[in-house]
Amino acid sequence: MKRGKGMKFVGDSRIPAEKMPNIPKDYSEYPGKTEAFWPDFLLKEWMVGAVFLIGFLCLTAAHPAPLERIADPTDAGYIPMPDWYFLFLYQLIKYQFASGPFNILGVAIIPGLAFGALLLAPFLDRSPERRASKRPFATGFMLLGIAAVFYLTWESVVNHDWAAAEQQGKIVEGTDVEIDQDSEGYQVYAGQSCINCHGENLEGGPAAPALVDLDLSPDEIKDIAHNGIGTMPADQYQGSDEDLDKLAEFIASLKSEE
Ligand code: HEC
Repeated sequence: MKRGKGMKFVGDSRIPAEKMPNIPKDYSEYPGKTEAFWPDFLLKEWMVGAVFLIGFLCLTAAHPAPLERIADPTDAGYIPMPDWYFLFLYQLIKYQFASGPFNILGVAIIPGLAFGALLLAPFLDRSPERRASKRPFATGFMLLGIAAVFYLTWESVVNHDWAAAEQQGKIVEGTDVEIDQDSEGYQVYAGQSCINCHGENLEGGPAAPALVDLDLSPDEIKDIAHNGIGTMPADQYQGSDEDLDKLAEFIASLKSEE
């Protein structure tokens, strides 16, 4: 029933006398614009869903997520990489203006403004206009945001050292040399910084090679402990000469049985 003529009102003219049941319109009034939920609509949904499901299945089969070694919370040299959908945020905090003393900018303020604006879009962009070309600010900022996300993701991917990442996550099988963790030499080893880089069983790690089967004399090992070698920094050994002798003898003695 239409409002206006022929309508009966109670005292307050805003309240019609006859209660109108709260039933939605019958969409049969719009031929061609409706479809049955079952089975037409559901079938379409399922078809789209299946395409995505099979697509993702193919992707996961073609690019299996690599398994890395067991996480080691004491390994400060491990550089973790966020998942791809967070790479743009990861990249953002690498820039000088958003890192170090300006961390708060990269971590909270810039992303906060961007996602806050997205959240508040219904309140900020209140024009009844629906066409993107008639809403220059909303469209412009959205395009800018998308471009920034794409650019930052791209930058972080091309600047990441993927070879080093693979190396640091490598599953180390260990060595076939039996390590006597009660020996005096091992005690010295474990008390020094060596263990952080060369591993609990001298099996090496992402930051250093294994220390078994070396072609080095104890004196040469002592020299390395003091002066470093290649990318190993100097002055790693802090202790008595006596202990260093034990350490060097110990490392030199680690040979796998032939
Ligand atoms: C900061 C990490 C780090 C620490 C700590 C460290 N090393 Fe190293 N070490 C390395 C790296 C990296 C190499 C490989 C250097 C190269 O070949 O460029 C290496 C190489 C060596 C080598 C030679 C291995 C070979 O294959 O010839 C010896 C021996 C050695 N380290 C002993 C020690 C001892 C003993 C300590 C403790 C006093 C120690 N390292 C502490 C990183 C470290």
